Amino acid sequence: MKFVLAIETSCDDTSVAVVQPDGRVLVCLAQNQDKAHAPYGGIVPEIAGRNHTDHVLPLVEQALAASRATPQDLLGVAVTNRPGLIGSLFVGIATAKSLAMSWELPWIGVNHLEGHLLAGFLQDDEYEPMFHWDQSYGALAVSGGHSTLYEVQSVPEYRVMGSTLDDAAGEAFDKFAKMLGLGFPGGAVVDKIARTGDRSRYEFPRGLAREENFNFSFSGLKSAAQRVFQGLAPEKINDELPHLCASFQEAVVDALMIKLERFRAKSRLQHYLITGGVSANSRLRERALEWGKTHGLAVMIPPLRYCTDNAAMIGLAGALRLARGERSSWQESASPASRSGDFL
Ligand code: KG4
Ligand code: ZN
Repeated sequence: MKFVLAIETSCDDTSVAVVQPDGRVLVCLAQNQDKAHAPYGGIVPEIAGRNHTDHVLPLVEQALAASRATPQDLLGVAVTNRPGLIGSLFVGIATAKSLAMSWELPWIGVNHLEGHLLAGFLQDDEYEPMFHWDQSYGALAVSGGHSTLYEVQSVPEYRVMGSTLDDAAGEAFDKFAKMLGLGFPGGAVVDKIARTGDRSRYEFPRGLAREENFNFSFSGLKSAAQRVFQGLAPEKINDELPHLCASFQEAVVDALMIKLERFRAKSRLQHYLITGGVSANSRLRERALEWGKTHGLAVMIPPLRYCTDNAAMIGLAGALRLARGERSSWQESASPASRSGDFL
């Protein structure tokens, strides 16, 4: 079987993968930049772009060596070309186009979100998907940049059912962690500290919970957290940390689960994918799996390596597009936003 070489540089992680069109991942490498951005408490686009330039070609070399794939084994080169940080996207695209031109292969630009929507269908020696992409499914993509609920009747027709009106769920975790001085990105730290906390000790809002739609809002959580902190003596904050984290986490997870359940009740879909960096959250995983059991659903949450930004998911999306005869032109470039035709 032939392979696709895939490159993902839309945000702060540089990733390169070699993937089969059936979703089998031969190799998926990533260079994480968290340390470079941590001193600034958020992603600095200039630093992200520069680091991608340093890492992308060494990763391509390593990925080809590890998979023993030669350019003759490749169907094409897939790369994220939207949405994302423009300077970061340029690095991946320029690399992908140059490689494709020199190897006389097609290249295909992929919407990063399509990657997340297919991430559950990747497979390797340790992970098998719970269902196939020919199945209709609902998908919740929750990360530092996106919080969107999709209906996928048939790949590649992705319908956006609802989205965050302000902050993404991961962004809410990161802002909360920053306010508590827990570092960046803070989602995983909040999750860890929350384990020993009381989830009902503090009240945080469940944004838009009562609205009859599938949208989310997480920006109110920041001011709610500020109010809670102001009501606490500074020396008490440390003792209260597990309860603060657990109560905050419960509010985010509740807001997501309320909309997911509303969507299930309306759509009657039986298959669900939960993806994006926030799907690493232990409480979201627990709640989503419980919810699946209650309603007899197949709830697929891919392993963390495929939930967070990775090139393997871009490789699968690109391989399916190449198989349908799609090609990107040499003139095509990056776009900071999705295109109007990307979603139904
Ligand atoms: O998908 P991802 O790696 O990159 C983006 O596309 O944003 O997601 C990163 C986000 C960050 O906001 C991070 O705080 C959050 O995912 N995150 C978590 C957890 N692990 C990562 N949020 C909550 N709980 C976690 N365990
Ligand atoms: Zn992402």
